[in-house]
Amino acid sequence: MTSRVIPVAPFTLTVFGATGDLSRRKLIPALFHRDLDGQLPDEATIIGVSRRPMSDEEFRSFARQALNDHIPASELQGPEVERFLTRLSYVAVDADADSGWSELASRVVAAGDRIPVYYLATAPHLFGPICDRLGKYGLAEQGRVVIEKPIGKDLKSAIALNEQVGRIFPEERVYRIDHYLGKETVQNLMALRFANALFEPLWNNAHIDHVQITVAEALGVEERAGYYDTAGAMRDMVQNHILQLLCLVAMEPPSSLDADAVRDEKLKVLRALKPIDDHNMASVTVRGQYRAGASAGGAVPGYLEELGSSTSQTETFVAVKAELENWRWAGVPFYLRTGKRLASRVSEIVVGFRPVPHSVFGDTVGAIEPNRLVIRLQPDEGVKLWLMIKDPGPGGIRLTHVPLDMSFAKAFKVRNPDAYERLILDVVRGNQTLFMRRDEVEAAWKWVDPILESWRNAKEPPRPYTAGTWGPSAAIALIERDGRTWLEDGA
Ligand code: BG6
Repeated sequence: MTSRVIPVAPFTLTVFGATGDLSRRKLIPALFHRDLDGQLPDEATIIGVSRRPMSDEEFRSFARQALNDHIPASELQGPEVERFLTRLSYVAVDADADSGWSELASRVVAAGDRIPVYYLATAPHLFGPICDRLGKYGLAEQGRVVIEKPIGKDLKSAIALNEQVGRIFPEERVYRIDHYLGKETVQNLMALRFANALFEPLWNNAHIDHVQITVAEALGVEERAGYYDTAGAMRDMVQNHILQLLCLVAMEPPSSLDADAVRDEKLKVLRALKPIDDHNMASVTVRGQYRAGASAGGAVPGYLEELGSSTSQTETFVAVKAELENWRWAGVPFYLRTGKRLASRVSEIVVGFRPVPHSVFGDTVGAIEPNRLVIRLQPDEGVKLWLMIKDPGPGGIRLTHVPLDMSFAKAFKVRNPDAYERLILDVVRGNQTLFMRRDEVEAAWKWVDPILESWRNAKEPPRPYTAGTWGPSAAIALIERDGRTWLEDGA
């Protein structure tokens, strides 16, 4: 039996940076989809805020265009579009100065007794100034604030940023988004682990040989090169998304799905990560940067050409062999890799089990492959459990390796909601389970900082790889040295 969708209370969502890319591509379409599904209460209103002067009507046209660009035309036919657009209004506000704030405050107050949510879809250097003025204009008292990465570029700057926000908003009203936590299959990881009796007894170093987490993108950095060059794959993907996935795979079962119960367990994983520094960096990390190559059948430029600089040493690919220093996972490597311009867009977690201790079948049946659980986050979300079975037919036993294959699209035939749809409404519901707590973000930086530092100390440029491949050959060597191999595309 499926359970009901948890309703949301009336809210006023103020989006700072409302005319920016995140708002256009993700937030406006996500809110519309929730409205289309009847999940926004009648009284819910959305106030767009940015520096540029614009009327309510102009902002609604901007939002209409965002819907046209990001939502299939078939979903935009009904009266719901107009209903959605009437929820929107706009105020021009200077994040760094006082202009527009009184007007914003009076709009929020005029909206009445609603849950006030402030979504800071802006550059992070504005988080502090915006929070300060939310405080100054009396908007923070009941308000919830949503921020998103990059939360700092190292531990020190992350602490400073968390402190700026924390001066105005207590932790229980700060929602740090990692949109990977809102992905359907990521939550399925919790369902798989904790709603089945099958896996948990095997979920440890006695039965699991290793884990692979791959988040591969086929696209390059494109128009985000400016930001990306200040970050690189380690800060952009590993410090947040990949470590969050690792936490969900490796954490102890929380006592409930309460936000702090889950986040306490994730924090313990982050704190158990074996440090990587000058001593072991070369043997457990690989960084790469793409050169010109081919993607989707066409020629594509290299990172340096896209950036327009010949000197950047920013990595567009990272592979790391991570280890957890605790009883459950001692000796089980977690191979992590992520990169731009790789051979295909695929994100998946592969849990490789240990081989059977003894074969009763003799030599004639071929190798007995170890079991594998593959959790595919995107595309084609689903779960595969690879098993050995008997090849059908007479003439003795021959074994074959096959997947029990569950594609969510085929099994449920429903649209897979975007992560932001779930996360924005979770803020309104006051549910922080899928948001990162301050100490998690800081613990992640604590592990990442020495890796970045050891790369800087080594003064070696990232290894080149051809666009459209699986990264530098050293990344393949990283895992093959251990007698294992990267598994791609659900294999
Ligand atoms: C973002 C990164 O957080 O995640 C981007 O900044 C990356 O560089 C993106 O492309 C990937 O998200 P998704 O949901 O497309 O896998």
